[in-house]
Amino acid sequence: MTSKPSILITAGPTHEPVDAVRYIANRSSGRMGIALAEAAASRGSSVTLLLGPTPSAPPHHSQIRVRRFRTTADLQGLLADLWPEHSILIMAAAVADYRPSKPADHMEKRPRQQGRWTLELEATPDLLAEAAAASRPDQVTVGFALGPPDRLLDTARDKLRAKHIDAIVANGLRTMGDDRIQATLILRDGREISRPECPKREFADWLLEQVELLRVGR
Ligand code: CTP
Repeated sequence: MTSKPSILITAGPTHEPVDAVRYIANRSSGRMGIALAEAAASRGSSVTLLLGPTPSAPPHHSQIRVRRFRTTADLQGLLADLWPEHSILIMAAAVADYRPSKPADHMEKRPRQQGRWTLELEATPDLLAEAAAASRPDQVTVGFALGPPDRLLDTARDKLRAKHIDAIVANGLRTMGDDRIQATLILRDGREISRPECPKREFADWLLEQVELLRVGR
């Protein structure tokens, strides 16, 4: 019998501070990652859920440990600490692509002034690519790819290759903030499995089965 894997799941948006009261965020609700955590725990896995700043209630389950993050940098630190002790990483968080390059200069509230305010942004590090680069052969990495419908699968295939991960879930922008998901799972070996639209919890159960098969196949 194969032992149940320990699973690290990230969920929700990041908030990148502009000053003491303002931030750059996105619409992610964290619901997909929370559904994955609940599904994994009910399958007997021990789960660590890294949950961003979302109003969605964190799950309460003895098998789920929840750690909160706010910024991409917070999440980067948590992944560096916790990824080595898990066997599967599912990166459902909507990590910011850009953040203010000098937030520290503005940690007071910037007063309103006449004229324009130009905000300089810098690219964030790709946390999933970093985790994949640091992973051992027995660990499995899974990403989520959001994209426009006409180029969704092509961009997801590109992300799978560029990040050197084992699988990626391609899902449309409509999924963000919704209770349901319609997605295609793309595996590193080229297989692609499309799923009809269904509730996120149902998709979570199916995805975990697929990911556990990948791990057992190692
Ligand atoms: N991701 C990450 N670090 C980032 C951005 C994204 O780890 N700085 C992860 C997400 O959690 C997701 C995957 O990478 O699992 C794909 O995210 P997505 O936003 O679709 O793609 P990007 O890599 O950000 O590329 P683009 O914005 O050009 O679509």
